[in-house]
Amino acid sequence: PRLWLIVPAAGQGRRMGASRPKQYLDLNGRPVLAHTLARLHRAYPQASLRLCLDEADAWFDPAWVPFVDWRRVPGGQERVDSVTRALDDLAGSAGQDDLVLVHDVARPCVHIDDLTHLLGVLQDERVGALLAAPVADTMKRADDQGRVAATESRDGLWHALTPQGFRYGMLCEALATARRAGIAVTDEASAIEALGLAPRLVAARRDNLKITHPEDLSLAALILEAQARERDA
Ligand code: CTP
Ligand code: MG
Repeated sequence: PRLWLIVPAAGQGRRMGASRPKQYLDLNGRPVLAHTLARLHRAYPQASLRLCLDEADAWFDPAWVPFVDWRRVPGGQERVDSVTRALDDLAGSAGQDDLVLVHDVARPCVHIDDLTHLLGVLQDERVGALLAAPVADTMKRADDQGRVAATESRDGLWHALTPQGFRYGMLCEALATARRAGIAVTDEASAIEALGLAPRLVAARRDNLKITHPEDLSLAALILEAQARERDA
């Protein structure tokens, strides 16, 4: 079976509040998007890429795409709509059992070892899997006054990261079913879960940060520098 990559990159970066979408902000000399695609390509050089971009995008440069086989697809209203459009684009090309990995463009720090590990797990995992990290902080539930209503147990709580990988046929069915049922889908795994299936959690490094708020950009720069030093060590 073939390996397909979907990278949703059609967001506006509203929480970042910058003058351009966050995937085009500079990170150690290159845009975030270029870092993310370079990492994915190092781990999965043979994969075919579908890159979801806003049709009005004025910043994208195809020179940042290292993949041989790739295509841009128009983004949708929400992240899930962008991913659905990319899956629609694969109809006729992808087989039902082909693997589809979805990775946020806003996660440039994903580690190569985790990408490799995830693909290995997916080889004999029928339901699919996602990178994830156990919650470390104590979890508080708030009341509507901004006060603590309860301390929640963090036992068994994980942060869902990306990539998330599933079989093409199952992922299409899951997203279509969730859409019909009006279920909000914030990641691919939640659509699979709505089918009553349980994707596998693959423990990953905690430094797979999603650049979301302004302070995340300098943090991501430090993470990339630290990872480069690890490689040289
Ligand atoms: N995304 C997308 N299509 C959308 C919305 C989001 O492809 N309609 C992508 C983003 O580009 C990002 C990923 O989905 O890679 C995760 O979304 P998020 O971190 O929320 O990014 P933005 O939507 O750009 O940020 P914000 O919500 O702050 O506006
Ligand atoms: Mg968003």
